Amino acid sequence: MKLRDRVVVITGAGSGIGRASAMAFANEGARVAVADIRVAAALETVRHIGEAEGIACAVEADVSSADSVQQLVDQTIRAFSRVDVLLNNAAIQVNKSVEDTTVEEWNREIGVNLGGVFLCSKFFLPHLKKTKGCIINMASVNGFFVEPTCAGYCATKGGIIALTKAMAIDHGKEGVRVNCICPGYIDTGLAWEYFEMQPNPAAAREVASKLHALWRIGRPEEVSRVAVFLASDDASFMTGAAVVVSGGFGSGLPPSA
Ligand SMILES: NC(=O)c1ccc[n+]([C@@H]2O[C@H](COP(=O)([O-])OP(=O)(O)OC[C@H]3O[C@@H](n4cnc5c(N)ncnc54)[C@H](O)[C@@H]3O)[C@@H](O)[C@H]2O)c1
Repeated sequence: MKLRDRVVVITGAGSGIGRASAMAFANEGARVAVADIRVAAALETVRHIGEAEGIACAVEADVSSADSVQQLVDQTIRAFSRVDVLLNNAAIQVNKSVEDTTVEEWNREIGVNLGGVFLCSKFFLPHLKKTKGCIINMASVNGFFVEPTCAGYCATKGGIIALTKAMAIDHGKEGVRVNCICPGYIDTGLAWEYFEMQPNPAAAREVASKLHALWRIGRPEEVSRVAVFLASDDASFMTGAAVVVSGGFGSGLPPSA
């Protein structure tokens, strides 16, 4: 087991990549704080982990709220006494151009996706410095290659890549590593909602598949395995990295190929 007795906090762990990561970390012996704005979903993840004889607790948390994040810190410390890994994974995606995005939608998307990384990192860093732990931020290939009708989302993911590198420089001397993962399309609710917004969702999914060199969309487990690696001692000399887990997204193949 690569992470025996480490304590891992995962935001947005009630579904998709976050849930797969919570289960993968628990399988490697970590104790997991499963945080999500939807507490029922977080409890469901904890149930799955319990069935596999892992250890986890559910915490209701809105990563865009400083008070809520402070409570997440307090509940994690109360449950497990320490924190070794923070996986900033929670995000939302507004499927609109800038012109169509309302001011409220913009502020919410920035607040959750980028603000959530800031708040969780800020409030967990004092604990991560004690354990010489690490932060993993879930960015996206959209931080490098943008796509239509998700302008704010692309902006937040580009911001997360820069924020990752900035935090790595500021906290490396304290022994805290900070990396991010940039997935391609992954088979979760976030991607399904994007397809549903298109005139022909099935065709949109097909086109999206062929944007990847592997001609398919990824599975949440294919991202969570990389998160486990980045948290483990195998990645002890990695910091400030943007690790692309994209099946070769944007490798130059036209959608009609
Ligand atoms: N699915 C993809 O194609 C894809 C591609 C690249 C990157 N990502 C990134 O992966 C991460 C996980 O997304 P996913 O694909 O698993 O989607 P998902 O919608 O299944 O999971 C997102 C989770 O975040 C939670 N959440 C939303 N707002 C929150 C808030 N304010 N506070 C706490 N939790 C909140 C949701 O309840 C949900 O459980 C995101 O950062 C996303 O941007 C996804």
